[in-house]
Parts: sequence; C-alpha cells; structure tokens
Amino acid sequence: MAGNTNLAYRRLCKKFGAELTCTEMVSSRALEFGDAKSLTYLERGKEEEPVVAQIFGASPETLAIAVQEVEKRGFHAIDLNMGCPVPKITGSGGGSSLLRDPDLAARCIESMVAHSGLPITAKIRAGWDSANKNAPAFAHQLQEAGAAVITIHGRTRAQKYMGEADLDIIAETAARCSIPVIGNGDITDVPSAMRMFATGVNGIAIGRGALGKPWIFRQIRAALQGEDIPKAPTANERASILLELGEGIAQLYGEKRGMLVMRRLASDFFKGLPGSAKARAECIKLKSLEDLHRLAEWLNSNP
Ligand SMILES: Cc1cc2nc3c(=O)[nH]c(=O)nc-3n(C[C@H](O)[C@H](O)[C@H](O)COP(=O)(O)O)c2cc1C
Repeated sequence: MAGNTNLAYRRLCKKFGAELTCTEMVSSRALEFGDAKSLTYLERGKEEEPVVAQIFGASPETLAIAVQEVEKRGFHAIDLNMGCPVPKITGSGGGSSLLRDPDLAARCIESMVAHSGLPITAKIRAGWDSANKNAPAFAHQLQEAGAAVITIHGRTRAQKYMGEADLDIIAETAARCSIPVIGNGDITDVPSAMRMFATGVNGIAIGRGALGKPWIFRQIRAALQGEDIPKAPTANERASILLELGEGIAQLYGEKRGMLVMRRLASDFFKGLPGSAKARAECIKLKSLEDLHRLAEWLNSNP
C-alpha cells in the first residue's frame, strides 16, 4: 500500500504472522530511469521471505525493463497493479485503467513473464464500474497470459474505497481461475477473514485492516489453526510496537523523511481509543523521534 507498506511496516506484519508481504507500488517508468526515490521503495530485508514487489505501468516494453530491475533486488514475485483508482495513475493508462483494456493488460503480463524468471502476479478490482464488472473473464485472460496468482479487490474502480467489497464477484473469479486467487477488501477481523475464505479463494489479502493493528495476522492465523485467538496487545505493548515502527522507518529514510511517513501510520495506532483526538492531532505534526516517544507515552498511559 502506497505510503504504508515500507520495509519497517512489512517487518512488523511478518513478525505478527503475515505469510507474504508486498511493497508499495513502484512506477515502472521510474525503474526504467533509475529514479533514486522510487528505488527506496524497493528496500528489502533479509528476513522477508517471501516478499513481493509491486509495480505499475501499462507499457509492455517499460515493464520488461522494470521486472529486470526488480529481479536484481532479490524479490520472490512481481505484482502488476491493475487496481489503483487514482487519476494520476489511471491517466497514463496504468492501475485500474487496465481493467478497460484486457488485451493490453494481457500483453503487459506476457511481457513481464517473458523477461523475468519470477512468478508474475496481478492485483485487480471487480471491474471499472457497476456496469462493467469483468473480473472473472479478465482474471482468466491474465491467467492465460501467464499470471501465476490473481489478487482481487471486490470493489470497482468507480467505488474507489467506498461502499462494500462484492464477495460474489470474488467467488466467481476464484471459480473461473485454476491459478490461486487471493480475495481482498474489508477484512478487519477474524469473522470478515472467514467470510472471505468462504468465497472459495486460496488466500486473503489485508490492507487497511492491518494499519495500526499488524497483530491482525496473528489473530486470523490462530483462528485458521483452530487455536484461541490472541488478544490485541496491551497499551504498553502497542506503545513499543509504535516505537519499533518509527525507529525502523527513521533508519530506512532518515529521521526527517521517516517522521513524515510516520504522521499517517502513527495515527492509525490511536484509532478508536477514547480521548485520542488530541494524540491524533499530534500525529500529523510529528517531526522527530522525540515527538514519537511522547505519543508512545500517551498510548502507554491510556489503556
Ligand atoms: C492509502 C492506500 C494506499 C494503497 N496503495 C496500494 C498499492 O500501492 N497497491 C495496491 O495494490 N493497492 C493499494 N491500495 C489498495 C489496498 O491494497 C486494498 O486493495 C484496498 O484498500 C481494499 O482492501 P482493504 O479493505 O483490506 O483495505 C491502497 C489503499 C489505500 C487506502
């Protein structure tokens, strides 16, 4: 997730039981030109096994070069983003725009497969809008083009992040494909994870539901194994998780840029806590690790 799933955050998710993590999306054009900032999104940790790099773009030629750049950095699979609804991305034909041009989307996958030895996967949405929910046929076409896995977010591009993910279209897509299909959208706890598994998917992907609570993976994993579901960490533990994340991000990007990234990530750790409005207002002003320590103290003293 752009702005969120940097190496430090993925490390936390992994520690709390995520099987597979994925980088923020990276522009294939930026990779072609070796853009320094974009390359920082591809920082990878040795302990991340396996980890997927996600790229976006809509030019088979550029994607061919980009996959080779990604492969050099030791990732285990490369995902093509066909779900991003943001005009800056769709405007140049990438992200969810590809849902409207299945032949081009398939050519992009073919080119990536031809130029990389890694599994090439795709992240799609239900369709462009409610009148064009083409995910089952679209996913099947990508499978025929060589995609190894499809992740489907059950909303249309028109919905962006509003309304609900459509589990029926996810079920239809899973039934149509012989490759693994991963269901995504609105998984925030064990019951919603179970509802997603009931669609017949082979795996589930969690986005916003893991922000501010990376322990969600541990809870779902326990439920799947028939074990007691571990409680959410105590206030004291949450405070140290927040600091671990902040310190990891400062190490990754330096304190100044790191705290800008933390402004968004930190506030999720306070969501829903009574009386947290002031702390959340402080999050958006974060400038230093010292500020972060003050926020962690607040968390610790407000169980
Ligand atoms: C801030 C933000 C950034 C996102 N960035 C990406 C991204 O880079 N790549 C991607 O495939 N999806 C991205 N998504 C979409 C999520 O991965 C996910 O598909 C969507 O939020 C629905 O799942 P959820 O209900 O579990 O969040 C992003 C979503 C949000 C809210």
